[in-house]
Amino acid sequence: MIERIASSGKSGYNKGIMKNNNEAQSVIIDQILKYGWQILCSEAFRAAWSETHHLKGILADHILNVTIMGCRLCREMNKHKPKVNEGEVILACLCHDLGMTGRETFYKSRLASWREHPQESVRRAKEILPDLDDTVTAAIESHMWPIAGPAPHTPEGRVVLMADKIASGIDWFSFMKREPWEPRIKERLKDVSLRRAHGQ
Ligand SMILES: [Fe+2]
Ligand SMILES: [Fe+2]
Repeated sequence: MIERIASSGKSGYNKGIMKNNNEAQSVIIDQILKYGWQILCSEAFRAAWSETHHLKGILADHILNVTIMGCRLCREMNKHKPKVNEGEVILACLCHDLGMTGRETFYKSRLASWREHPQESVRRAKEILPDLDDTVTAAIESHMWPIAGPAPHTPEGRVVLMADKIASGIDWFSFMKREPWEPRIKERLKDVSLRRAHGQ
């Protein structure tokens, strides 16, 4: 699967996991809005549009990269066993770095922010969704493994971990190319996040 992602240049862009036609993009937008609209419209997520990440990137942009990649990995993995809960993956991806907003003043040091933000992300996520499932909170806590936190022990946790690592590479690649990744999906979700509540 990783080879298919790595080899999906322009010639392979419409194949497999990177299938990127309008229909595939619309399905991803619908799924993220269905499970994650409360997170997208939260103050914590809106603050992420003003936070830099990975040198000159934007934190909210990185979070959406992770979430889009998480959806794509779910769809690929669910062709086989075990089944991965896509809704839980979307929630964990949308929340995984909420603890990074305000990092310069919130944590004692940059090292502390790397180590402690998964736990803080869980705390901030529970402020938005108090009944967040244990599978989701565990996936958030393990997304920095092996740098910080426990290793993931569920399929959902492993997908979030993988999506974060791949999306971090996409962040740097997008920055070097000066082109956003998946702009259509992100423009739609940014619009919901900053201007409208779902269904209004
Ligand atoms: Fe993180
Ligand atoms: Fe991340």
